[in-house]
Amino acid sequence: MALSFFVKNKKAILNRCRDDYATKMRLKYAPYYLAMESQKDTTVRLDGRDMIMLSSNDYLGLSFHPKVIEAANAATRQWGTSTNGARSSNGSRSFHVELEDKLATFLGKEACHIHVAGYMSVMTTVATFAQKGDVILGDKNLHSCLWDGIRLSHATVERFSHNSPDDLREVLSTSNLNAAKLLVVEGVYSMEGHIARLPELTDIGEEYGCFTILDDAHGFGVLGRQGRGTTEHFGLGDKVDLICGSMSKSLASTGGYVAGSREVIEYLRTNSKQTIFSAAISAGQTAAAMAALEIMQTEPQHLERLWANTKKYKAMLKGLGLDIWDSETPAVPIVLGSKERVYPFWKALLDKGVFTVMSIAPAVPAGKDLIRTAISAMHTEEQLEQIAEAMAYAVKKL
Ligand SMILES: Cc1ncc(COP(=O)(O)O)c(C=O)c1O
Repeated sequence: MALSFFVKNKKAILNRCRDDYATKMRLKYAPYYLAMESQKDTTVRLDGRDMIMLSSNDYLGLSFHPKVIEAANAATRQWGTSTNGARSSNGSRSFHVELEDKLATFLGKEACHIHVAGYMSVMTTVATFAQKGDVILGDKNLHSCLWDGIRLSHATVERFSHNSPDDLREVLSTSNLNAAKLLVVEGVYSMEGHIARLPELTDIGEEYGCFTILDDAHGFGVLGRQGRGTTEHFGLGDKVDLICGSMSKSLASTGGYVAGSREVIEYLRTNSKQTIFSAAISAGQTAAAMAALEIMQTEPQHLERLWANTKKYKAMLKGLGLDIWDSETPAVPIVLGSKERVYPFWKALLDKGVFTVMSIAPAVPAGKDLIRTAISAMHTEEQLEQIAEAMAYAVKKL
């Protein structure tokens, strides 16, 4: 039987793609998906020109560390390029267990599980432990992977104002006291550079019996005396039930981790679909992260240099009168307030050989349109001076 004339066919989807305004704008101005031709440390080559990378999350600058590169190469030679299977079936290897044990110890937890992407680790942490009928208390400015995890969980979500313990208390005071509750926060909000007010937030969470999940993708390697992250920074290890994050930032690899008590991690291994049905991380990426973790504990100079560079960079931006949204970390936004101001600023930096990323509403709150920048321990004095000159030039273009 012929389908009705009125039934929608695939044209609806194809038209959606063709007419998408955001895609049209992206292709017209081409600020994203720029493919670099080469990279060495913090220098990238784009359209035949060398540029300073000022928006990478290689905070400790370890992705070109000789020991990290050698570890990745040696592991690839020994194990091949892929695990070709899920941990739950044919993909589990001794190197996974080794890194998990080391990460758990480093984070002060009993157990850990690693995945192919930070996005997956963080998303599945929420999706696995929350379920229909539960209430999730989430900071309004959470990363997209946490919102995806929240959606997948089918739990009810209650948002509280960004980094506001007062609003968390307010929201909790009217929430369903009989429901199981999960408090979901980030350690460092990378768009803003803010550090979570973890002591107050976890105190309130504890009062209401919340299970606490911390995404510390940008705190790991950056905060705390040894770079153990936001919980070390505040001395709060046992107040957080699960710490998850990414290995694509300070750990100079790709992949993600979830760390918690043994019981909780074993529950994840049984119940997380993203864990059970997705291939395990490769030997090369695991070995790179393992080497970076070792370096973090034996070469403190990288963390020291990261913070020295950050201090110098922020002083320069403030001297130019730029708004850095009270950033407290090496993730430093330059808030310009509208896309009309962001684009010429970004372009001026690019023209002067400094690579940054634009973030415009709705990716950021209206009026907070910004340039994303991040400092690395690997930036040299000379590069910081070049960046300062480029910033002064871009300010004049506003
Ligand atoms: C807060 C936060 N969580 C998780 C992720 C996901 O990590 P990955 O890029 O390694 O998948 C990111 C990545 O930008 C992030 O900023």
